[in-house]
Amino acid sequence: MVCLGVLTYLAWRVVHDTTRDWWEKDINLRAQLVVNGARQGLIRHWETPGDGLKGLLTEILHDERIMGVAACNADASLLAETQDFPRRFNCNELGLHVRPAANAPGPEWKVWWTKATLPGGDVQVSTIPVLDQDVPLGFVALVHDLNFVARREGKTQRFILVAFAVLAGAASLITLVAIRLSWRSWSNELRRLVRGGGPRPEFQPLLQDVRELIDRISTEREADIQGGAWTPQRLKHTLNRHLHGEKVVILANREPYIHERTEDGRTKVLHPASGLVTALEPVMRACSGTWVAHGGGSADRATVDAKGRVKVPPGEESYVVRRVWLSPEEEKGYYYGFSNEGLWPLCHLAHTRPLFRGEDYKCYRAVNQKFADAVCEEVDSPDPIILVQDYHFALAPKMIRDRLPRATVLMFWHIPWPNSERFGICPWRNELLEGMLGSSILGFHTPVHCNNFVDSVERFMESRTDRGQSAIVHHQRATLVRPYPISVEWPNHWAQLSPPVAECRAAVFAELGLKPDALLGVGVDRLDYTKGIEERLLAVERMLERYPAFVGRFTFVQLAAPSRTVIERYQQLNAQIEATAQRINQRFGRDDYRPIVLFRAHHEPPTVFKYYRAADLCYVSSLHDGMNLVAKEFIAARDDEKGVLVLSSFTGASHELTEALIVNPYDFDEAASALVMALNMSVEEQQDRMRSMRSFVAEFNVYRWAGRMLVDAARLRRRDRLTGRLSEHLLTAEGG
Ligand code: G6P
Repeated sequence: MVCLGVLTYLAWRVVHDTTRDWWEKDINLRAQLVVNGARQGLIRHWETPGDGLKGLLTEILHDERIMGVAACNADASLLAETQDFPRRFNCNELGLHVRPAANAPGPEWKVWWTKATLPGGDVQVSTIPVLDQDVPLGFVALVHDLNFVARREGKTQRFILVAFAVLAGAASLITLVAIRLSWRSWSNELRRLVRGGGPRPEFQPLLQDVRELIDRISTEREADIQGGAWTPQRLKHTLNRHLHGEKVVILANREPYIHERTEDGRTKVLHPASGLVTALEPVMRACSGTWVAHGGGSADRATVDAKGRVKVPPGEESYVVRRVWLSPEEEKGYYYGFSNEGLWPLCHLAHTRPLFRGEDYKCYRAVNQKFADAVCEEVDSPDPIILVQDYHFALAPKMIRDRLPRATVLMFWHIPWPNSERFGICPWRNELLEGMLGSSILGFHTPVHCNNFVDSVERFMESRTDRGQSAIVHHQRATLVRPYPISVEWPNHWAQLSPPVAECRAAVFAELGLKPDALLGVGVDRLDYTKGIEERLLAVERMLERYPAFVGRFTFVQLAAPSRTVIERYQQLNAQIEATAQRINQRFGRDDYRPIVLFRAHHEPPTVFKYYRAADLCYVSSLHDGMNLVAKEFIAARDDEKGVLVLSSFTGASHELTEALIVNPYDFDEAASALVMALNMSVEEQQDRMRSMRSFVAEFNVYRWAGRMLVDAARLRRRDRLTGRLSEHLLTAEGG
């Protein structure tokens, strides 16, 4: 508005000055015309001024805009004047301007004019020389009334104002139309975004910046508000604050508590050996909700209600396990077959050939549907939060989404994702990818696995990748693909429940019959070929070979939980490890000394933690592992800040626990040297390394892992609600 005012004033000023100039010149021209027209008469009466000359001047006065006329002689004396010729002007004064200066060369008389203000208004005086054949006789002075100029100027100004108003109106109209048009194009753009079309390339950098800023601000805000370490309370608070305390439903094949019938007919509860369970169980204790899993224990059916539900943990009962029952055929095809003989070796670089059988896959698909249906029975809203876990359920996210389109489905893949070439050998690769892309967020342990997944999608699917946003847009829906490195609970309740380290060490030494100065290494795994257990034993053998001083002193105890024993490859592995341990023991053992102690049995967490705490070192030698939580559990167990972790570089954990002794498990010499280095390490160095790793795991614990995923889910839900609202607005606007 102010701008418009200033512009109008400037325009008015320019027009005013210009028109004034025009009028003045025009008046002067008219004066010359009038005098020239009367020139003959003037010359005739010039010599004998009197009534004739005065009459002539009065004639000139007939022009209403001329107020007075006077004729002045060449010597500036007055010859005649009309009645109202203003006294203010006299021939003498005017003559000064019309006549040439006395000493000027030549008889150059000139037209001159000036303006003045009289009581009646502004006037202009024009003085026009009167020449008789180039001989100047004198001049005529005409006084013009400028009031008419003012009147006309007023008119002109009004016209300009009106013109400006019209122009401003027109400009506003044009602007409005332009805004409307561009709003429509924005609306279309937004609508495209809402429908999952993705932004135009020219908006990408801008959107990227905005997103990053929003993400950073909300993460910082989150950190500010909550502050400090991630704890069960903070996770619960996050759930309440961001997700309004919504119930979380987890889908995982392995259940957190297995009810087994003992030989004497009683029921015992087992904690399965599973990294997935290690990580998720504390999260569920913090968040409550429902864990949908395969009921595989011999007493599982006897311990649930009519709907297959049981409250856990026993005695605490903070969440529900919903058990799904599988027939032996289903278990064979879905679990042993496609999951563990197909996908497991496909995703791990551990030299075991994947087996893809059509009937297994059919079974896998049917069982995925069965679990997806069970999940949908457990939710209590149309937009629940569902956490789908691992390779057993690649198809479930899409199946859940088909039934609950507004659900927030977070899928976490606990094992590595192979490169696209390798993944491409799976006959059902497209269907698997399609199933996983039913998720809202897809998590892997490391950025490398995320990239491998995105590459696979790009290679085999019709989709669009938004690398900046780490999202894949498929069927107009976006799935975020993000790294969320998993971890363990901190503080660890098993460590807290454990006896002091010295007590654990004494107990283990007694159990194993070790001398007080013995050195102890420990390995804790499922009996799985990806864990590199055989390579581990071979590294111990190389160490004893190269450093004979340790023979008789160093014992390596392997807690190996039998796993997937129905599968032939696991049976072979079992036999190989048994044979290798025996061979090494025969080679280096003596009457009272066995370098390798192999416990092939399931061990409950208190025993596992006792061994962690008793040992001088823990060797994790996986040939390929998404993360490996044994490494982090060992660190959590060592509140005495002693003990050394020797860790395979092929684990996700090796990227985080850099103070461990990192080795290539295939390189027995390197691994043997690392074992020796660990055993010779000073207590101070052990403490330095352990302290640093403990503070890392304390900060990056499993509550943070879950919290980050849930915060991302909450952000996504907010965005979805916003875009939902936006599209409603757009549709309403369109309708209106
Ligand atoms: C890995 C998988 C888990 C699985 C665990 C134990 O950690 O990622 O999903 O639960 O192995 O295997 P199991 O076949 O006994 O469940």
